[in-house]
Amino acid sequence: MNDISREIERRRTFAIISHPDAGKTTLTEKLLLYGGAIQSAGSVKGKQGDRHAVSDWMEIERQRGISVTSSVLQFAYGGKIINILDTPGHQDFSEDTYRTLMAADSAIMVIDAAKGIEPQTRKLFQVVSRRGIPIFTFINKMDHEARDPFELLDELETEFGIATYPMNWPVSCGVTFRGVYDRTARRMLTYGDYHGGARQLEEIDCAIEDTAALDALIGARFRKELTDSVELLEGAGADFDLEAVRHGLLSPVFFGSALHNFGVRQFLEHFLELTTPPLPRQTVEGSTVDPCAPGFSAFVFKIQANMNKAHRDRVSFLRICSGRFERGREYYHVQGGRALRLSQPQQMMAQERDIIDEAYAGDIIGVFDPGVFSIGDTICEVGEEKRFTGIPTFAPEHFAVIEQIDSMKRKQFAKGMTEIAQEGAIQIFFYPNSGMEQVVVGVVGVLQYDVLRFRMKSEYGVEFRQRDLPHEFIRRVGNADFNAGDYNLPRDVLWVQDVRGRNLLVFNGQWTVRWAMEKNENLLLSEFYEEIEG
Ligand code: G4P
Repeated sequence: MNDISREIERRRTFAIISHPDAGKTTLTEKLLLYGGAIQSAGSVKGKQGDRHAVSDWMEIERQRGISVTSSVLQFAYGGKIINILDTPGHQDFSEDTYRTLMAADSAIMVIDAAKGIEPQTRKLFQVVSRRGIPIFTFINKMDHEARDPFELLDELETEFGIATYPMNWPVSCGVTFRGVYDRTARRMLTYGDYHGGARQLEEIDCAIEDTAALDALIGARFRKELTDSVELLEGAGADFDLEAVRHGLLSPVFFGSALHNFGVRQFLEHFLELTTPPLPRQTVEGSTVDPCAPGFSAFVFKIQANMNKAHRDRVSFLRICSGRFERGREYYHVQGGRALRLSQPQQMMAQERDIIDEAYAGDIIGVFDPGVFSIGDTICEVGEEKRFTGIPTFAPEHFAVIEQIDSMKRKQFAKGMTEIAQEGAIQIFFYPNSGMEQVVVGVVGVLQYDVLRFRMKSEYGVEFRQRDLPHEFIRRVGNADFNAGDYNLPRDVLWVQDVRGRNLLVFNGQWTVRWAMEKNENLLLSEFYEEIEG
């Protein structure tokens, strides 16, 4: 194996997904502590303004103390280079969250043990599972009252249709939480009231058959419960199958407490062992690009404007798919059709941006973008021509009519809306045969409207009027020469066109979609989800 392949093989690039408040930030912070990437707990999340989240960039984030944009954090642990793709924790997340998942090779799903699967766990899981990448589950907050672990696993299996394999098993929860039993290491990890304080964790080798030792550790009652549960798991549970894990069909499950840093190191170590190095990527042309193949290639999965107010810049985030990136070398931007040097390549950590000289497949780099890149673009060696697939556009779920207020600023309004839409933060639609003064803006999370308002004002000097629409369900229309007037449609349906002039209908209820389909046998409606192709 050459040096480049060795570097690539030790990369682990993953995203952490969860419903807000399940403990994603807390877990990320603990993982970063292990990597020595941050000095003290509490620096990832800024609550009341004094501490800022490491990933807080934009002014709006600082004002609200939330994280709108996703960031990338890199650290080294146990000989591996770890890239965590952080996703917005706020419930009004955007397409950004979804797209970030396209750059990951595996996902960690954090679940609150008292709540189980929540709405956003569900949405994010669907996006991740579509890619068939490994999914690890961390069932958090075992120090609080929790639901029955068997019931939680059953919920994951029946709702998500994946098999689960508990890597450890909790002994009670809440005030009587005694710890977890590591099934592979055959070791009891005990949890005490003192936990989180100065004393070290106790990790004790202890076979499940060693009744006396277990009784001494957790008491006879809990020992009995534990041995019964483990017996049940061994008998009725799924077998561990690494291949199934690697294809996202079997999720290794860990119980722990992120807040008390309980079970986190063990989780990290198992995770690093079981997850994959950078995965191959497909091209539109139908070939597979191996990460260790010679030659650099990458795709743009996110574009972020104005991360630094002093610079008024735009940064494109690239996921490297193969080879090694070298600063100063010329690469080819396939969609732009020209060679270029990537300006000021950086990796991000906290508000710090480190200019880097090299990076490898699996890594994420941010490059200054003078406005030439779009989401999904491929950058590769000069003389090559390939385009990566797999950056989808997701269906917006909220719609509003946005209208410029000052007609003198028509140009700035159009420019701002178009540029922000190009970055993928919002999607714009037009009423058929009308101009740009009034557009329908679709977003995945309503917070994007605030971001839009803020950016239009601060970057383009334009204010707008916003009228929220009750519509939620967008469908593509497949009929050629479509005219809504020719069909028997519900009165409140919204007929719009996208930037390419394609027709869409937006409904305000699932049942109205069905109604329209029943009343119009020849109407061709399809789901919105689509892959952006270069
Ligand atoms: P998120 O990023 O998924 O939204 O969740 P976050 O880590 O911010 O955690 C949400 C709340 O849950 C926080 O409390 C956090 O301290 C708490 N929490 C996280 N992990 C655990 C755990 O293992 N056990 C318990 N008991 N609580 C946990 P908060 O009061 O909302 O915020 P803070 O004031 O503690 O920051």
